[in-house]
Amino acid sequence: MKIILAPMEGVVDYAMRELLTASGHYDLCITEFVRVVDQVYRPAFFRKICPELDPELNQGGTTRAGTPVRVQLLGQHADWMAENAAVAADLGSCGIDINFGCPAKTVNRHRGGAILLQEPETLYKIVKAVRDAVPGDQPVSAKMRLGYATADLALDCAHAIESAGANMITVHARTKMEGYKPPAHWHIIDDMRRHISIPVTANGDIWSRPDAENCRRVSGCDDIMIGRGALCLPNLASVIKVNAAPMPWKEACDILILYACFSRPSHQRGYLPSRIKQWFSYLKRHYPEAHILFEKIKRLRQLDDIITLIRQER
Ligand SMILES: Cc1cc2nc3c(=O)[nH]c(=O)nc-3n(C[C@H](O)[C@H](O)[C@H](O)COP(=O)(O)O)c2cc1C
Repeated sequence: MKIILAPMEGVVDYAMRELLTASGHYDLCITEFVRVVDQVYRPAFFRKICPELDPELNQGGTTRAGTPVRVQLLGQHADWMAENAAVAADLGSCGIDINFGCPAKTVNRHRGGAILLQEPETLYKIVKAVRDAVPGDQPVSAKMRLGYATADLALDCAHAIESAGANMITVHARTKMEGYKPPAHWHIIDDMRRHISIPVTANGDIWSRPDAENCRRVSGCDDIMIGRGALCLPNLASVIKVNAAPMPWKEACDILILYACFSRPSHQRGYLPSRIKQWFSYLKRHYPEAHILFEKIKRLRQLDDIITLIRQER
């Protein structure tokens, strides 16, 4: 079984990848999406989204725990996607992932993300162009939802992605219209998986070890991707893979403090306090203690005050 840490724009950044993969058992991370419209980004831009590619950090495209990181691109123009994919691949990204699942209105209005699931032939063109632009030893993967309004075209989309030469597909088992509303329809992934021959990774609503077992059984997939669950329980991958004990609250606090210390000069004032508060909204799902602590920090603006309180309460 492989476990992939899901791309989450505005949430799973460099620091988060470092901290979550440090607890082990992640096989791959996908970056937040790079929105491709009508330009080729410079290497510096890719290194900002994916500092693991920065030669100065000397990480060779992996987190410091050794988990490979793959750049994700989102866009509708095959040629621009291909040119950007070539740059990211050349910088050492562990392959390229293509986002066909983003439900954001602004992105969909400009024909990016999940809206393309209505046009399997466009998916084909994009994946083919990216595959042709990236050296053969660097995988190309695509991440899709079941469809836009319905799952009627799910298999056509998966076929298009496969026949264009992708090496793997991740399926978030909901349509765009379903947003994040439970349940995730893992059984539909099973229908798709049976008709295609490249590996399929199942995604959606895996919050615990039993969820992972159910998802793998129902979808028939070996591999899974976890997103929000990984933020709720920072060692969820180890819990799933080797039945590790769930991380105690005290250790989760230590990770929060480390996250706060990942400050970078480029971060604007308020960036880290708001990111820490955002992380609390996930931690609250697993740790009752997080509710109490969040009430105390929610109005604090200074990072130091927040860190002091977390240290006191842990
Ligand atoms: C805040 C947030 C940001 C996300 N950003 C991305 C993204 O940049 N690219 C992408 O393919 N999916 C993105 N997703 C979708 C997740 O990768 C994942 O498919 C979804 O959350 C379902 O998995 P989960 O139930 O394990 O969280 C995002 C989801 C959330 C909640």
